[in-house]
Amino acid sequence: MSTIEVAGAKVDTRHWINGERVGSVETFTNTSPIDGTFLGEISRGGQAEAEAAVAAAKTAFPAWAALGPKGRGEILHRIADLVEANIETLAMLETMDNGSLLRSHRRGVMPRVALNMRFFADWAINELHHEAFETRGHTNNISWDPSGVAALITPWNAPLMLATWKIGPALAAGDTVVLKPAEWTPLSASFFADLTKQAGLPDGVFNVIQGFGREVGAALVANPDLSRISFTGSVPTAKVIARSAAENLTPVSFELGGKSPCIVLEDADLDLAVTLAVEQYDNAGQVCLSGTRILVHENIADAFAEKFREKALQIKQGDPRDEATDIGPQIHQVHFDRIKGFVDRAKAEGQDFVMGGEPNEELGGLYFKPTLVKNPTPGSEIVTAEVFGPVLCMQTFASDEEAVAMANGTEFGLAAILVSGNRERASKVSKQLVAGTIWVNCFFVRDLKAPFGGSRKSGIGREGGTWSFDFYADVKNTVVSPTGWKE
Ligand code: NAI
Ligand code: MG
Repeated sequence: MSTIEVAGAKVDTRHWINGERVGSVETFTNTSPIDGTFLGEISRGGQAEAEAAVAAAKTAFPAWAALGPKGRGEILHRIADLVEANIETLAMLETMDNGSLLRSHRRGVMPRVALNMRFFADWAINELHHEAFETRGHTNNISWDPSGVAALITPWNAPLMLATWKIGPALAAGDTVVLKPAEWTPLSASFFADLTKQAGLPDGVFNVIQGFGREVGAALVANPDLSRISFTGSVPTAKVIARSAAENLTPVSFELGGKSPCIVLEDADLDLAVTLAVEQYDNAGQVCLSGTRILVHENIADAFAEKFREKALQIKQGDPRDEATDIGPQIHQVHFDRIKGFVDRAKAEGQDFVMGGEPNEELGGLYFKPTLVKNPTPGSEIVTAEVFGPVLCMQTFASDEEAVAMANGTEFGLAAILVSGNRERASKVSKQLVAGTIWVNCFFVRDLKAPFGGSRKSGIGREGGTWSFDFYADVKNTVVSPTGWKE
């Protein structure tokens, strides 16, 4: 069966290549992290499927590029309309597939998916202009030209949201797309492909290939006909992709997670600090920009820890379809075991677990309790590696200087949260932090106009507004002389 039914929605589990469904002989099994329910068998692509998808995208490119931002924008808005008309279905599908909260898919994520399409479509039409300027009478005209076929490789923690954060600007820029969603969350991308067809997107402009990273993913990024590779995921995988991209000198954009700090200065509003710190358990800790290292001034550490514990113990863990649930399960048994591995090794080292530190036995399955490690040994694995689960560390510092040194003391640099009651102090500390995004007295405020990305090992490049187009487009300068004209 190539079409499955998930919570009333019909999803085709084959690839989407050149506007058609294409199956593979081999399949892989997709289950729901909520309770292990079997969802369906998914086509398992390889070299042939990757080649066919890139070839289709390459053939479709000239006409899509020639359509221009306005023509493309109309279709992208129609896709957004269809996403909005299908929010309920998409939300349920995504929740069944990745175990994130239904309430946030409904009210936050899926509306944002539609916005991703609208925003970048409009940005290409209205904002992608650079004022022409003169050089000794010559005029410099700068343009953002379509570049070709963009390969998009996306993770499972926010599948359609992160995919459309790339699909939107790539298509708006005039590129054609081959998307390889994560093998643990194949469904929303497949459903989205049907919506692109309904919206009138020409065949071959958008393609989806399903399967494992090491198989179809590796075949895709090695293809010499790509003009861009955009990837969100882990550092080790980014290295493999970068090696492959080097062979063809394909430009890459990487967003690779981190071990971000949540810094609470001595003058912080304690309730605000606690609220922001507890939010770091959201999505069961499977968030790239999560502030998993809570750094608190030593004078307020005890008061903070008490309030933190009180609030964190109120987190309701359970079925993500339940409106009252705050955090759901981990994505997959493999990932659950990975998280447990980090925790077990830290326990063996004698680290101080003051909360959680074990699976939620009551719920069973893939539910891991919100966990807090107090004063981990500096440099130890639990406080340096990205766990990507509901595991936070809390450390103390004695001065702003020490806080900055600790905050910057990892190989990552994606985000930082800073809580302070004093603007001047907050500004001084922010300037010294190495991160792509600093949230001062807030968290997760993310405008599509703003640059987003990581410093150090957290990534290469920035996405958002014109930064996205600087990547997906070929930026061109046409210099026109005042002389030589015959008319
Ligand atoms: P991953 O980086 O291996 O997977 C992400 C995507 O890359 C998936 O679509 C996968 O199929 C694809 N992929 C894997 N190997 C590939 C290859 N050789 N060529 C092309 N594509 C390939 O991440 P994984 O294994 O799912 O998670 C491991 C860790 O990565 C997590 O525990 C977390 O620390 C980090 N991570 C970070 C994310 C972020 O938002 N920055 C998202 C997901 C994971
Ligand atoms: Mg799944």
